[in-house]
Amino acid sequence: MELEASWFFQLLHASFCFLFFTSITILSLISVVFCLLRPKLCCNCEICSAYLTLSWSKQFDNLCDWYTHLLKNSPGKTIHIHVLGNTITANPDNVEYMLKTRFENFPKGKPFSMILGDFLGRGIFNVDGDSWRFQKKMASLELGKLSIREYAFEIINCEIKDRLIPLLSSVAAAKEQRVLDFQDVFRRFSFDSICRFSFGLDPRCLELSLPMSKFAAAFDLASKLSAERAMTASPLVWKIKRVLNLGSEKQLKRAIEIVNILAKEVIRQRRKMGFLTHNDLLSRFMRTINDETYLRDIVISFLLAGRDTVASGLTSLFWLLAKHPNVGSAIRREADRVIGKNQDLTSFEQLKELNFLQAAVYESMRLYPPIQFDSKFCQDEDTLPDGSFLKRGTRVTYHPYAMGRMEEIWGPDCLEFKPERWLKDGGVFYPENPFKYPVFQAGFRVCLGKEMALVELKSVALSLVRRFQIELVTPHRTPRFSPGLTATFSGGLPVLVTKCVAFTTAYRQIHRQRGTKLQGLTYDTQIDV
Ligand code: HEM
Repeated sequence: MELEASWFFQLLHASFCFLFFTSITILSLISVVFCLLRPKLCCNCEICSAYLTLSWSKQFDNLCDWYTHLLKNSPGKTIHIHVLGNTITANPDNVEYMLKTRFENFPKGKPFSMILGDFLGRGIFNVDGDSWRFQKKMASLELGKLSIREYAFEIINCEIKDRLIPLLSSVAAAKEQRVLDFQDVFRRFSFDSICRFSFGLDPRCLELSLPMSKFAAAFDLASKLSAERAMTASPLVWKIKRVLNLGSEKQLKRAIEIVNILAKEVIRQRRKMGFLTHNDLLSRFMRTINDETYLRDIVISFLLAGRDTVASGLTSLFWLLAKHPNVGSAIRREADRVIGKNQDLTSFEQLKELNFLQAAVYESMRLYPPIQFDSKFCQDEDTLPDGSFLKRGTRVTYHPYAMGRMEEIWGPDCLEFKPERWLKDGGVFYPENPFKYPVFQAGFRVCLGKEMALVELKSVALSLVRRFQIELVTPHRTPRFSPGLTATFSGGLPVLVTKCVAFTTAYRQIHRQRGTKLQGLTYDTQIDV
């Protein structure tokens, strides 16, 4: 009996100690979280209150529209969201200062690289310093070569002729269901293109049956969940969830595992097939790098950088073209004059002569940049050219979406879609100062895939505008964006597709006379993903 009582008291004592120490630990954790969040949550200035109570959403469809409104009305074109510790600017002098003049003081920083670190590893998109310099040097060397530009041109045109046009033709020929979600189509198009360009392997996402790809789905989920980490009130929230392997962090871990299995398989196949004779980016990197994880990281960064951005650029371009049929007609007229009536594009060089097309693409991304804002971290305290003081560790964001809507930069017609604003000397395209138009970023970390992106956007626009009539299913709806790393239309872009009879008939006649095939370029090895 005595023994039982002593055992009971021992158990009681142990349970009490356990409960006591667990409660203390939890309470300490909560107070640390509270202390970290407190100074931020305390701000009750007008902007922070509107941000916290979401009252801005009564007047604006999108957060970027509210920021644009605030930036327009700020004398220095810079605002501070204290609760986020974020300074946001639409002032070109500030942008030049962060991206060029004081580049070393504005790295991406640890908070950003931790958010994307599990997914992107040490890939170029996610690193600073020497690792970034090394990859940038190698990538610029490869991407600057004529052979890789021609390779990109060939891939893109294959994807357009063998998949995009047949898909739209089949939809246009259907008796009833002529609606397509263009955003989904462009995501498939850009995923096939960037995988072929980066790995030389083909996920076939844009085949007529519009198959689901395990790789694409896991990749999408991983980038969506990584982006959502940035939206939590404090990094501690997702870090604790990660340690405990809970909810979205558990899903993210699984998605990254799938991406890694497939990436490893891709690298294995490339090694087996021999990388010395292939032109894709991975083969080129494999000639210098042996570390498998590093190769995976580099290529995944390219996929992320080059997939959703292009799809986003195409989606908003076609939204604008459907709203401005006169711009589509001008693109067709220019193509007939430069390439020839009912003739197809034959070279990368020919694309460069289409000044109006280039202007339309630039103008569309001025109003709807695929990356609406981009943040850096201020390493040591600094002062921006407009006088804004930055404490060490402040997040500083330049905002291409707002900058495209500034009267001071683009004049009183800044909200209009007018490709002509980019043309001078009787129709020659002139680019704007990149710090006023940082759509591809600017300065030392400017986008490395800009040329490839422009070839994709122009080739798709040209091919579709000449062959199809595209109308919006909901013409009066203005774009609402889903949160994420790139601008995505929530609800997609449903369109009605019909054929432009004149082009198709004449085009078929010409090819029949010449005996050439309309489709028939061969693909690299295919991969089941
Ligand atoms: C319309 C399409 C595109 C837009 C608007 C765009 C825009 C951008 C922007 C704003 C950045 C800077 C991001 C940052 O540092 O936080 C960037 C970086 C980058 N982009 Fe693009 N991009 C596009 C397409 C592409 C494509 C197709 C590729 C690949 C072939 C690519 C490869 C890269 C790479 C590798 C970087 C990292 C550069 C560095 O950190 O030094 N991009 N891009």
